[in-house]
Amino acid sequence: MFFSVAWLRLPLAVSLLLPALARAHEDSLFTSSVTYCAPPEEILVQQFDVAYFAANSSVSFNISAASVLPNLNVSATLYINVYGMQPLNLTIDICSLFSGALCPLPMYNFTGWDSIPLPSSLDVASRLPGIAYVIPDLEAFAQLTLTEVGTDQVKACVQSTLSNGWSTHQRAVEWTTAAMALLALLGSIWQSVMMDALALMPVRLLDLVYLYQTIAASGLLGLNYPVVYRAFTLNFAWALGLFAAGPSSHVQHSINSMRHLTGGQLADASSGGAVPLVNRKMSPYNVPESANTFLAPAALPRVRLAEGLLARASAAGSAVRVGGDVATVTPESANVLAPGIPIFVNSIGIATANAFVTVFLVGLVYAAVVLAALALAYGAAVALGRTRKGRDSDKLAEFRQEYPAWARAWGLRAASVCVVPVLVFSFYQWTLKDSWLSVLLSVITLLTIAGIVLYSYYLVIRSVVRARSSSTAPAPPPSTVPLTAPYAPHRAWYGALLLAAVLVKALVTAFGSATGLAQAVVFLATDVLVFAALVVLKPYRTRRADVLMGFLAAVRMVASGLLIAFAQSLSLKPIPRVVIGIITAIIFSVAVLVMFFNVFVNMGLWRLLCDALCCARRRRAGDRALASNPSHGSDPSILEKGGASPVSGASGEGEAYREQQ
Ligand SMILES: *[C@@H]1O[C@H](CO)[C@@H](O)[C@H](O)[C@H]1NC(C)=O
Ligand SMILES: *[C@@H]1O[C@H](CO)[C@@H](O)[C@H](O)[C@H]1NC(C)=O
Ligand SMILES: *[C@@H]1O[C@H](CO)[C@@H](O)[C@H](O)[C@H]1NC(C)=O
Ligand SMILES: *[C@@H]1O[C@H](CO)[C@@H](O)[C@H](O)[C@H]1NC(C)=O
Ligand SMILES: *[C@@H]1O[C@H](CO)[C@@H](O)[C@H](O)[C@H]1NC(C)=O
Repeated sequence: MFFSVAWLRLPLAVSLLLPALARAHEDSLFTSSVTYCAPPEEILVQQFDVAYFAANSSVSFNISAASVLPNLNVSATLYINVYGMQPLNLTIDICSLFSGALCPLPMYNFTGWDSIPLPSSLDVASRLPGIAYVIPDLEAFAQLTLTEVGTDQVKACVQSTLSNGWSTHQRAVEWTTAAMALLALLGSIWQSVMMDALALMPVRLLDLVYLYQTIAASGLLGLNYPVVYRAFTLNFAWALGLFAAGPSSHVQHSINSMRHLTGGQLADASSGGAVPLVNRKMSPYNVPESANTFLAPAALPRVRLAEGLLARASAAGSAVRVGGDVATVTPESANVLAPGIPIFVNSIGIATANAFVTVFLVGLVYAAVVLAALALAYGAAVALGRTRKGRDSDKLAEFRQEYPAWARAWGLRAASVCVVPVLVFSFYQWTLKDSWLSVLLSVITLLTIAGIVLYSYYLVIRSVVRARSSSTAPAPPPSTVPLTAPYAPHRAWYGALLLAAVLVKALVTAFGSATGLAQAVVFLATDVLVFAALVVLKPYRTRRADVLMGFLAAVRMVASGLLIAFAQSLSLKPIPRVVIGIITAIIFSVAVLVMFFNVFVNMGLWRLLCDALCCARRRRAGDRALASNPSHGSDPSILEKGGASPVSGASGEGEAYREQQ
């Protein structure tokens, strides 16, 4: 039992946290975005791909740039910033190089690529710590400034962020989490058809999706997130209805045109993602408040560059498009993205003002799929009823009779999954003052979802209130079962408390983005209240469900507490923020794994797996393991219960919880 858990946990953990292990990876650093840090005058960049490979200690580049001003004498400053540290700030007098060949700077269109080994005298390998190649979502950038000799005017300033190829944002994680949700969905449908209304899987399905949404929404606050944490939350963006869009996405282009035709003025998504447009004080730039990166230095240390470096560079053609797609981002420019939803959605290629409409369109498709599936279920039941076997089946007749309530219950489940994204992005749309059509759609969507969900809560609470006054009051209608099934009958209103918490968080996320600290504090306060209410009321049907949901509430509470550390006003140093970000990501990952395990147990798959594994192992290891550790021996009473009925399903939750202690 214990070993089989470890066996299962390892690949899951790997797939969640270290997925890049799967593909071959070589130690390298490369440029991941490029921006001008001053209005471009002297140097125009179209493409700037530079990579350093540790294995052969060589630099590969594919650059397309032009120097365009005549008769210009400059000095160059190369500045490197890694997690707010500034290991290199080097000024070179260009005139002292190559016996003055670059003085004045030649006008030149350069397009070329090559790979050149660095001379051993530079000894880059010893200056780059090994962790630079493996830490996910490296926060580092390099900046080249050309300053005119004599006038000290900045003639060119180019910034480029560096990456090592590792990130916590991984396709594999998105697919794994989505596959788990799909598995839970199939299990839920099966149980809701075959078992009574209190089947556990449909309840856990909503809990799983809500956990995903909580993780994604924790990346939407106006905080200075370390890149590693934002990348982690992006894995769950799909649970909010946000799917990554490329620069050529038709959907995003259509939304852009729709907005611009209906009074929308806000910018479209830039093709380079969000990183180039992040405020330079925040991750991944972390420029310290005091540093003035544009100042021309007084002293000019002399440096001998490897002459071969420039000598081998081949020049060709005149294919440089002036400016290209490279953005200009200075401390004064208005195109900087605000922290929170703008950076989050732009990171996956969706413009800030497109966020709601994207969610809306995904929601339309989703609604169509849900309705089609419900119709299909009815059609299948009718068709099966025509067959000879079906005509005799009581189960089928019962299902057809209960179909309206069943379908409405699934409709309610489908709607409650939409609550978080619709609330957050509708509210946020109202703060933007963009296209009127987006606002209109957001109002309609919000009213629709609110109508469905609130009316169901009204039915539930009315019946709870009536049950207080008279013992013969009717139970809540069966279509509201998604709201009542998780809770003990007299605590059926606890769900309304959770809804209120979601509402508060959505309001704070959308309207409070100017003060990230306040947002995080309200998140923490809400989660503390929800957790305290859970501890006091114990609203769930079984003790084990209380424990599992208490665990999830505690995870939310701790994570919200840790988010406070990212507040800009606390101006914590980058490295502690990265550490806290990684810890938060791990805590959420553990919660996700617990839910995966729970889904396995509740679907009975766990028992299958254990049967297979335990038999094999017992044959191999004999009784040794069992004798030395009887409490972890296969306890059939636990495993047997991992299947059918709601109560026994919950026993697996206790097990899952214990495994995490
Ligand atoms: C350099 O970039 C250009 C344009 O993106 C591309 O067509 C070309 O294949 C690249 N060259 C190498 C060696 O990667
Ligand atoms: C640039 O430097 C060269 C060599 O030192 C000098 O001959 C030239 O006059 C300078 N040009 C300007 C514009 O200062
Ligand atoms: C470089 O290319 C640009 C645009 O194609 C052109 O306007 C400019 O004259 C070229 N400069 C040189 C020195 O070839
Ligand atoms: C160094 O290794 C990289 C990646 O393996 C390769 O692309 C590059 O051409 C190599 N450079 C040299 C000079 O061998
Ligand atoms: C780089 O060093 C010079 C002095 O040599 C200083 O004036 C400048 O502010 C430094 N740049 C940064 C970004 O620290």
